[in-house]
Amino acid sequence: MQSRLIQGQYFYAKPFLKWAGGKRQLLCEIKKNLPKNIKDPNTIYFEPFLGGGSVFFYLKNKYPIKKSIISDINPELMLTYKCIQKDPEGIKKELKEMREKYLRKCTFEDKKDYYNSIRETYNDNIYKINLNKINEQDVKRAAQTIFMNKTCFNGLFRVNKEGKFNVPMGRYENPKIYDPDNIDEIHNVLNDNVIIKIQDYLEIEKNIKKNIAKNSFVYLDPPYRPINKTSSFTEYYKNGFTDDDQIRLCEFIQRLTKNGVNVMLSNSKTKDGFFEKHYSDQKIHPVKARRNINSNGKKRNEIDELIITNYSINI
Ligand SMILES: C[S@@+](CC[C@H](N)C(=O)[O-])C[C@H]1O[C@@H](n2cnc3c(N)ncnc32)[C@H](O)[C@@H]1O
Repeated sequence: MQSRLIQGQYFYAKPFLKWAGGKRQLLCEIKKNLPKNIKDPNTIYFEPFLGGGSVFFYLKNKYPIKKSIISDINPELMLTYKCIQKDPEGIKKELKEMREKYLRKCTFEDKKDYYNSIRETYNDNIYKINLNKINEQDVKRAAQTIFMNKTCFNGLFRVNKEGKFNVPMGRYENPKIYDPDNIDEIHNVLNDNVIIKIQDYLEIEKNIKKNIAKNSFVYLDPPYRPINKTSSFTEYYKNGFTDDDQIRLCEFIQRLTKNGVNVMLSNSKTKDGFFEKHYSDQKIHPVKARRNINSNGKKRNEIDELIITNYSINI
């Protein structure tokens, strides 16, 4: 459990990125559907579709998790977590510099030129990220990812076929690019037995050996299956998440279930009953959520989602 008293107030780590499909809006439903072993100090937590990590931060703030393995297939995303874990001062320094330069620009056009210059440098310097060896170049890059996330259109992370980040600048009056206290708090959380990886979600199966299966809890928040043809939320990363991927994920959950691992999955409720059909042997909890990011800023309505668990709710 992590919290710090700052000026008479308890301060908890909060997500530092905006992320498509972020689960902040669904936290109160997730809370109600947690497994009993979340309260057990021997629990090992896995979140292999991490994104902005709202569930991870919530659980780390609230429960005595022994060890966490957080991962995502997006290397640039995971580099931001790794750099805050290893070098929060470096990250804050880079962000401070970018924030000052950005806010000093008076007109939208000047701000846009600055944003585009950062994006150009970022795209000209793509390299294979290795989380085991973090250096200055990585810290600069991670700070650029955070800066663009907070100033770009809707906090989207979208890359083209060459892997180049292509989201234009958003229209924010005074974007809060980072909060230094929160970076410190996140640093503390990430140094409390947290392993950070870039990997496909299937890789975690190797880590959940039989002896730890009963102590494990896996939360899965894959890219949404689109509710209809226009709401394509599956383009988070250059390889979209297809129906075949959703089925592979379902088979993966079946294997974990056989091994006694507690699993929670969230996804959209689609009209064709896709999840009800594939998860007919699991517990399906229909819930309402407000979606955060839509390419049409006006469409932020409450929508139906599903929380699926392979355990009965008993917390
Ligand atoms: C719905 S978002 C997760 C949002 C997160 N729960 C939050 O609160 O911000 C889905 C994430 O899955 C990641 N992803 C997509 N395919 C993946 C795969 N095969 N293995 C691991 N992560 C994947 C994406 O990069 C994206 O960050």
